[in-house]
Amino acid sequence: MSFENLTAVRSDSVLGLATAFLRDKAAGKIDLTVGVYRDDQGRTPVMNAVAEAERAIIAAQTTKSYLPPIGPPGYRARIRRLVLGDLDDGLGDRTGVLQTTGGCGALRIGAELFARAQPGKPVYLSDPTWGNHDGLMSGAGLRIRTYPYFDVSAHALRLDEMLDCLKNAPEHSLIVLQSSCHNPTGADPAPDAWAAILDTVERCGHLPFFDVAYQGLGTGLREDVLPVHMAAGRLGEFLVAVSCSKNFGLYRERCGALLMVTPDGSRKGVVESQVKDIARGMYSMAPSHGALIVDRVLSDSKLRSAWRRELAGMSKRLAGLRTGLARAMDERRPDLDFSWIARHKGLFLLPGIEPAAVDRLREENHIYMIRDGRINIAGLNKSNLATFADALAPLL
Ligand code: LMR
Repeated sequence: MSFENLTAVRSDSVLGLATAFLRDKAAGKIDLTVGVYRDDQGRTPVMNAVAEAERAIIAAQTTKSYLPPIGPPGYRARIRRLVLGDLDDGLGDRTGVLQTTGGCGALRIGAELFARAQPGKPVYLSDPTWGNHDGLMSGAGLRIRTYPYFDVSAHALRLDEMLDCLKNAPEHSLIVLQSSCHNPTGADPAPDAWAAILDTVERCGHLPFFDVAYQGLGTGLREDVLPVHMAAGRLGEFLVAVSCSKNFGLYRERCGALLMVTPDGSRKGVVESQVKDIARGMYSMAPSHGALIVDRVLSDSKLRSAWRRELAGMSKRLAGLRTGLARAMDERRPDLDFSWIARHKGLFLLPGIEPAAVDRLREENHIYMIRDGRINIAGLNKSNLATFADALAPLL
């Protein structure tokens, strides 16, 4: 017997609850779990520009033979430009790109690259952070440490403590920084805070690893990668994990990219050869379908404008839900300040509910949230926002 020493592993904290929600037969149940965008009808639609690009690709397709293991060239150039913007003109020649299996693939391959480059050095994650960061980083053999990030009761960043922690981290540590719409808090550093963070990272010789999972869902396509652009002006090297899951709605296609900004063109070839080798040893190469769609959307001016409009509409809906929830909570709990809900960005917020109360909400009210108290605000809509606010108000 080969497997008798194994015990069952608990379901992932995010994906396990989504499954429990599907099993719940209650009418009026509310799903605030997994971080996917939803419209006012609770659907996660295929974006129109994506559907049109997909039809064109299938109509023109003549083979399913292999593409270059590093990813389709058009996709690699366009995703790099989407993230670096105009800075791509100067940085493109020294930025390696690997197409990855979603943002998770980019985080894992980047961690493996770092483990090869700086054996024994730790990775620092924000406290709190997205549940899967730990597994992705430790899976590459990195020792996990955390930096203070967010004070849940004050709904505010712990910037001074974060800077102190980064100052005391061993030189050449890997520092994972979410560029916008922080998961699970929704709280992002302001530009002057980013400047202080990047100054510290630079002075201490750390390697920043930006996690760009929500570009366009926060303030805008350019604003949501502000820290990446700021890093480009100061640092010779850094990594960026890009996900196309949320901003292209390509969740199940597993489309992402790892960008590796290096000090010069010769290093770029080296890091690209390393990540190709790492990917080859793990799964050979990423699936192409999502990457070809993204390439098509970004290279066709009509599709690109349509996509930008749709994405802006999604971001506007999230901002509207935030204002709506802040107002609904103000009405129910005038003794508390809820302005932070509207100030924070993206899909997530962390109102500070204990796990036992999260369990009660699920069992008694059929409201599903992650046990760390994270809410995906996109699961709210006109017909359930008041019900949710009623259930939340007595818990705060
Ligand atoms: C989330 O945080 O809910 C999403 O990023 C989905 C996932 O894979 O956890």
